[in-house]
Amino acid sequence: MKIVITGGAGFIGGNFVHYMVKKYPNDRLIVLDKLTYAGNIETLQPVMDKIKFIKGDIADRKAVYKLFEEEKPDMIVNFAAESHVDRSIENPEVFLLTNIMGTQVLMDACRKYGIQRYHQVSTDEVYGDLPLDQPDLFFTEETPIHTSSPYSASKASADLLVQAYGRTYGLPVTISRCSNNYGPYHFPEKLIPLMIVNALNDKPLPVYGNGLNVRDWLYVEDHCKAIDLILHQGKAGEVYNIGGHNEKSNIEIVKIILKLLDKPESLITYVADRKGHDMRYAIDPTKIHRTLGWLPETKFEDGIVKTVQWYLDNRSWWEKIISGEYVQYYEKMYGDRCDL
Ligand code: NAD
Ligand code: TYD
Repeated sequence: MKIVITGGAGFIGGNFVHYMVKKYPNDRLIVLDKLTYAGNIETLQPVMDKIKFIKGDIADRKAVYKLFEEEKPDMIVNFAAESHVDRSIENPEVFLLTNIMGTQVLMDACRKYGIQRYHQVSTDEVYGDLPLDQPDLFFTEETPIHTSSPYSASKASADLLVQAYGRTYGLPVTISRCSNNYGPYHFPEKLIPLMIVNALNDKPLPVYGNGLNVRDWLYVEDHCKAIDLILHQGKAGEVYNIGGHNEKSNIEIVKIILKLLDKPESLITYVADRKGHDMRYAIDPTKIHRTLGWLPETKFEDGIVKTVQWYLDNRSWWEKIISGEYVQYYEKMYGDRCDL
């Protein structure tokens, strides 16, 4: 099998590449990644001799067609995206270019050259949010698309395009919509890695609003396993929700991390809320469980310990990141929220 993995130098894509190299040593894996601020070639270093890496933009039609011409891939798994909600609020444009136009270019290439499967890695954020006072409500695959941020709007647009290409051109597409991931190689602008890194540096932990917003956390390897199952056993044309019924408020997460690192809660600093902040995400994963037998394997209590340990053991991976361009980003985004 020849599989193109876009965005494979990012958090989930990188974990997926590691997973696939180990599970399918005879497959040819080609990673296409633009190496934006979020892409890190070091994430792929341990497997570099087992994959082909191409630095390129999924929205660059010429480059994508060249890749298809040369490699004639059997499958595409599209992780490439601008993925951070806060950045999308600051500057939506690149989200539309990569997440929507880039997806279109990839699917045009699939139409032109043929493909066994195009898989779109999407997010539960396309469903909008749920209220805190109705804990029995969950997102199913039938929940209407109802987006809040430019990020989620761009991901939802891509999903609709993928479904349109499936129906109109008969492309064998699948879509997965996963809840929040955590684990190794997570860029320290997202909640869990940011809090770990700040706590390790004895810096304030910026909690947006009252900290009561709820996310449904899944260990990244469980997400990788679900995508693998969908690729090999999922039905073309289908959408699969992925999540492990592990809802936690942001403040709970922050306190767990402080406890694991033996740092004081006085580091917690409440800052101005995110604009349009989604209240609660919660996935109903019944479909993928019933049809493909998927269940999450890593309990949050274990996954968070492994994750914290990974950041302790891999300081050089994240220290390089936070000493570069990211410093300016951090000052810009958090400087006017409060004095951090
Ligand atoms: P990430 O930001 O860590 O990584 C994105 C990767 O895509 C980076 O390597 C970046 O260099 C690359 N990229 C960006 N623009 C590109 C372009 N134009 N061409 C080629 N490569 C490009 O993101 P992530 O957290 O790993 O998320 C991966 C996918 O999973 C995204 O599509 C995201 O929407 C989705 N998702 C993420 C989560 C989560 O909790 N992180 C949850 C559900 C779904
Ligand atoms: P994030 O990791 O950005 O993921 P998403 O917005 O895609 O769910 O944020 C997770 C939650 O944590 C979200 O409710 C916003 C909140 N948050 C903070 O309170 N402080 C922070 O510094 C960040 C980055 C996020």
